Amino acid sequence: MKEKVAQEIARRVKSGEVIGVGTGTTVDAALSEIGKRVQQEGLKLAVVPTSLQSAWRCQELGLTVLHPGYCGHLAWGFDGADQVTKERWAIKGKGGAMLQEKILAKRCKKFIIIADDTKLVARLGAGCPVPVEVIPEARILAEEGLKALGATEITIRTGSGKHGPVITEAGNIIIDAVFSNISATLERDVKSIVGVVESGLFIGYAHEVLVAGAAGISSL
Ligand code: 5RP
Repeated sequence: MKEKVAQEIARRVKSGEVIGVGTGTTVDAALSEIGKRVQQEGLKLAVVPTSLQSAWRCQELGLTVLHPGYCGHLAWGFDGADQVTKERWAIKGKGGAMLQEKILAKRCKKFIIIADDTKLVARLGAGCPVPVEVIPEARILAEEGLKALGATEITIRTGSGKHGPVITEAGNIIIDAVFSNISATLERDVKSIVGVVESGLFIGYAHEVLVAGAAGISSL
């Protein structure tokens, strides 16, 4: 399924473009397909990545990697998601890159989410916590604030290969917060907690969602 959306993204890329690239295994699959076009057709592409992982992968594939800090608006970009709805609301950030991913989403005139149909849900939240990037010094305040907003379970993300919390590329921690009710205002409310840098709630950012299922690709 991932390959199907990956191929669709690669088909849309035009030589000479500058596009935004998200993070994750679905994005990696799309990059591999784009890489094939670089090899076979001499496609020339510049990218604005959202993580070191994506930047390094793009570099390996022969794409020109631009620093996000030097870029303004882009015509389009693509990224994966952990959950997405028909209304194109999404939860992102299982890979911990949601801060750069949200900046990318905002700078793209057309921000496309790509996913397989296991990610498509009627309502966000069930079985998928909302990742919240927090300045380490504000951990306790942020936990309190998230509980006050209705979070029923709160976990500091830890990783393999390290003792202690996962540290994002911006030097922050991630709190995974379970919400049973995700309303249109939750993203703004979470962001207003002191010490919260960004959350993985993407409400109203995606202009198109490409979902791959057994019957093919649907565009939402
Ligand atoms: C990373 C993300 C990813 O796009 C999201 O977790 C989906 O990843 P995958 O394609 O590996 O399932 O938001 O921060």
